[in-house]
Amino acid sequence: MPYDLVIQNGTIATASDVFQADIGIRDGVIVQIGRDLGEAVESIDATGRYVLPGGIDSHVHIAQPSGEGIVMADDFESGTRSALFGGNTTILPFCLQEKGRPLREALKAYHAFADGNCYTDVSFHLIVSDPSDAVLGQELPALVEDGYTSFKVFMTYEDLRLSDGQILDTMDVARRTGALVMVHCENEDAIRYLIGRHEAEGDVAPRAHATTRPVAVEREATHRAVSLAEVADVPLVIVHVSNRESMEEIERARRRGRKVIGETCPQYLMLTADDLDGMDWEGAKFVCSPPPRDAESQEACWDGLERGVFDLFSSDHCPFRYDDPAGKRNPKGMTSFRHIPNGIPGVELRLPILFSEGVNKGRIDLPRFVALTATNQAKTYGLYPRKGTIAIGADADIAIWDPALTRTVRHAEMHDGADYSPYEGLELTGWPTIVVLGGKLMVSDGALVGRKGDGRYRSRDRSYLATRRDRPTAL
Ligand code: URP
Ligand code: ZN
Ligand code: ZN
Ligand code: ZN
Repeated sequence: MPYDLVIQNGTIATASDVFQADIGIRDGVIVQIGRDLGEAVESIDATGRYVLPGGIDSHVHIAQPSGEGIVMADDFESGTRSALFGGNTTILPFCLQEKGRPLREALKAYHAFADGNCYTDVSFHLIVSDPSDAVLGQELPALVEDGYTSFKVFMTYEDLRLSDGQILDTMDVARRTGALVMVHCENEDAIRYLIGRHEAEGDVAPRAHATTRPVAVEREATHRAVSLAEVADVPLVIVHVSNRESMEEIERARRRGRKVIGETCPQYLMLTADDLDGMDWEGAKFVCSPPPRDAESQEACWDGLERGVFDLFSSDHCPFRYDDPAGKRNPKGMTSFRHIPNGIPGVELRLPILFSEGVNKGRIDLPRFVALTATNQAKTYGLYPRKGTIAIGADADIAIWDPALTRTVRHAEMHDGADYSPYEGLELTGWPTIVVLGGKLMVSDGALVGRKGDGRYRSRDRSYLATRRDRPTAL
């Protein structure tokens, strides 16, 4: 029987190897890797190009309710289209529980937003904002069984933060069910204190967003999160780490034998707090939490990517339009930095930034690139080995990269719903030019050929971390 698609003459990279071979695809799955594979209905010549597993971005916010009058810039159509053009084939957005409401209600709405509208596969994490007895006792355990195997909890944001007790209760559900907890580590009380001081001084410009969320605020919360996870005896993910001191908390916990996964993001490699200084409120374009820091922290994050402090490199894509009363320049946001919605777009540039600045500049090798952006993502969140690698039996989710193509970032050429890119003008070498999802050609020589709805929802297994307990539980 002929293959549906063969990708020929490319250089394949996985998290462990780089080699020359052809890939035979049938019914959406990789069924052969080798030479002279024989007949195919369609073939792609990948001479001089890299053939990589499609990117998996496990940290994406799309169509998330964001408070009064604020609207996220991406729905599932634009968000997944942008992800696809950035070489991704799966993204994991967050489904936010509204206070006092069941998670199932939010999931129903989220599935309705996503169904039929996606250009990449999607799967959802759950944000637990109200861990009531019913949510902890019945709803979350049932949802884990249904394939929603990761929860995010927040230590910051007035309306989302959980107390330490609530975090422990949520971690205990993870302990009992094998779910994985992701923690946003910033000390809300310390931030409130600093915001009060700055506002009293009349210091309300975007730059103060960074000043009121210093490293100490993130470091303390990171220490607390890993300590709470130690008490509850669960693995955990520390998301969007911005600096060396927080990295050291992760490393110390690991030396104590804890399973802690670290994640960092493009903004912590490419931006600094000085970007928040922009004239005429332009600094609002760079407001995200934790804030970008300084050149030394950028170096620390590169070091963490190289040394394995970070297993995950994700975008934390959280897009708001800039010139928009429903976005960064909302009427309240123009009076003080504290009302500027937090988050920046980045799902399309995550991989090109790491490729250009990391692989091409010799900071990381190609297998490390694949591990950080696809393989570890799939393993951590229960999608491996179906996704995240190029292997027989895996989904044919593949991005073909031209390592020599140089482009300058122009938001006008991007595919998200925001009206700016924080990386405007950045010159990057190495871009994905062909993207295949489940054996179907989606992007061909930079043009969209796939259709909305080709991407589908995927339920997930438990994390490999949660299912491979090497010690008996303490409690
Ligand atoms: O500023 C950010 N990172 N916004 C997105 C929400 C979050 O905390 O991840
Ligand atoms: Zn967060
Ligand atoms: Zn100040
Ligand atoms: Zn986030």
